Amino acid sequence: MVDGRAQPRPNRLLLIGMMGSGKTTVGRLAAERLGWPHLDSDAEVEAATGKTVPEIFAVLGEPAFRAAETTALVRALDTEPVVVSVAGGAVLDTGNRRLIREGGTVVWLRAEVDTLTDRIGDGAGRPLLDGDTERALAELDAVRRLLYTQLADAVVDVDDMTPEQVARAAVLALDRAEA
Ligand code: S3P
Repeated sequence: MVDGRAQPRPNRLLLIGMMGSGKTTVGRLAAERLGWPHLDSDAEVEAATGKTVPEIFAVLGEPAFRAAETTALVRALDTEPVVVSVAGGAVLDTGNRRLIREGGTVVWLRAEVDTLTDRIGDGAGRPLLDGDTERALAELDAVRRLLYTQLADAVVDVDDMTPEQVARAAVLALDRAEA
């Protein structure tokens, strides 16, 4: 705080939410609208390690993936302005939550588990969804919902919206937060 007023927010839009909520697509569209670069934490992890996310989980294990995820987040938040699509599980880590909270305007793309299940299908290529996709998503959602709630400056209910509509709503939320 300076003179009793909050510091200006960094020029960053951070999209959080469950896998299947549309963070990557919406992030790209929002970045186009803003004329800002777009970074996706999973893509950054893949670029840094030379491995796909499923390969990292299979070969190195989830803790190694989470460590690479934190590194990717730190790097992404070194850029400004930027739109960052933050992978669904990054919020599990306390340090990541602080980075996200302080990193810019945080918009939660909130979706019902039914919506996520419809979009994700059999969960192929998603390491945490082996087996019963709907049940796994419901369990992950139950743990994470409160964390997303605590972090979000704004929430967009994406279930009945197109990616373009969600991107427009996210950019509006950013404009309002910066006003
Ligand atoms: C994960 C979400 C995925 C990916 C990995 C783990 C999670 O990213 O990082 O499969 O724990 O929710 P998206 O949220 O971009 O799908």
